Amino acid sequence: MLKKTVAAAAVALIAAQTLPVLAADVKQVEVMHWWTSGGEAKALGVLKDDLKQRGYSWKDSPIAGGGGEAARTVLRARVASNNPPDAMQMLGFSVQDYADEGLLTNLDAIAAKGGWDKLIPAPIQRFSRAGGNWFAVPVGVHSTNWLFINKKIFDELKLTPPQTFDELVVTADKIRKAGYIPLAHGGQAWQDATLFDSAVMSAGGTRFYTDALVRLDPKALGSKTMEKAFDQMRKLRGMVDANFSGRDWNLASSMVINGKAAMQIMGDWAKGEYANAGKKPGVDYVCAHYPGTQNAFIFVTDQFATFKAGKERTAGQYAFAEAIMDKNTQARFNQTKGAVPARLDTPMDGFDECGVKAMTDMRSALQAGNMVGSFAHGQAMPEASKTAVYDVVTHFFNSSQSSADAVKRLVAAVEGSK
Ligand code: BGC
Repeated sequence: MLKKTVAAAAVALIAAQTLPVLAADVKQVEVMHWWTSGGEAKALGVLKDDLKQRGYSWKDSPIAGGGGEAARTVLRARVASNNPPDAMQMLGFSVQDYADEGLLTNLDAIAAKGGWDKLIPAPIQRFSRAGGNWFAVPVGVHSTNWLFINKKIFDELKLTPPQTFDELVVTADKIRKAGYIPLAHGGQAWQDATLFDSAVMSAGGTRFYTDALVRLDPKALGSKTMEKAFDQMRKLRGMVDANFSGRDWNLASSMVINGKAAMQIMGDWAKGEYANAGKKPGVDYVCAHYPGTQNAFIFVTDQFATFKAGKERTAGQYAFAEAIMDKNTQARFNQTKGAVPARLDTPMDGFDECGVKAMTDMRSALQAGNMVGSFAHGQAMPEASKTAVYDVVTHFFNSSQSSADAVKRLVAAVEGSK
């Protein structure tokens, strides 16, 4: 009896794991992502509507957690149990990693039909393709080196956006003395790392950033310039409030929106929160660049990769990929999300002044050949090194370690991760 029950349970378990997709499910695309803040969810709605118009329903699988660490962990577990979603939001090297494992749907046919080769900037394609084939569809391009400012506080204190890091320090001091929190920050590893993107750029410029965080050159990593980047991190640490630990990024944005804090250093997805709260650039807030990175573009490109499935489900994935690449959909999505459309042919109309600034920045960076990938968001170095550097940065931010010691630790951590 017992044997029979166990056998039946085993059969049921196997059946559940290998359950064939029911006919009704074929017209549905399951999308996993981490866009759960107010602004992000609103932007996602644009993609959902487009897919619906193509005759597919959207099965939403959101995994909360800014930067996507939690979502990536859930994805790994689902892939391991042979149950990946149809589509997954991905950043940087992840696409390459899953493509190398032979798990992703090849999107070459759709890419050729849509002329993606010509529409998508080369530095973005670099993360959509593996071995020359398209495995992911890019929806937008964010950049991380932004400084968001509460305009009312700055006006009240007669402050202007700081142009150099030293000016930022003086500005933060004045804000603190006036009773506001200078810098809204959430103490989570990826947010600390987001500050580090800007600190490294500000300390050494695009060339140095590339040598250190993309090429992982030990000389750059171990340099005095890198010490300066850590010095900036130490000063930024002094600008946050006592309760910063563990705070979500969108709650930090709310602190600036509500006038509790004066500034936030964050990728331009923060703009989505302002827009969602009915705030206007130039009126309620100012989008400036982190001082010393005015001419830099540290990009993060959100892409969706689709996991290999049967023929019928692949049709849904193709429809999904076409929805993501639709010109109007990309425009409306990115106007809400705060990103630059991945498609270069998207007109600037309809974007607010911050959006136009980001689009202009990306185009000039592209022309100058100095678009660089964000370390914090997995676009600069492979995953293992990224994790090692995250540890160094977060440890430094949460301790009283000296910059010189942090630099030594950085060199060793990167070396050990290669
Ligand atoms: C993604 C953004 C997202 C942000 C916060 C980044 O890694 O690229 O699209 O808004 O994380 O969740």
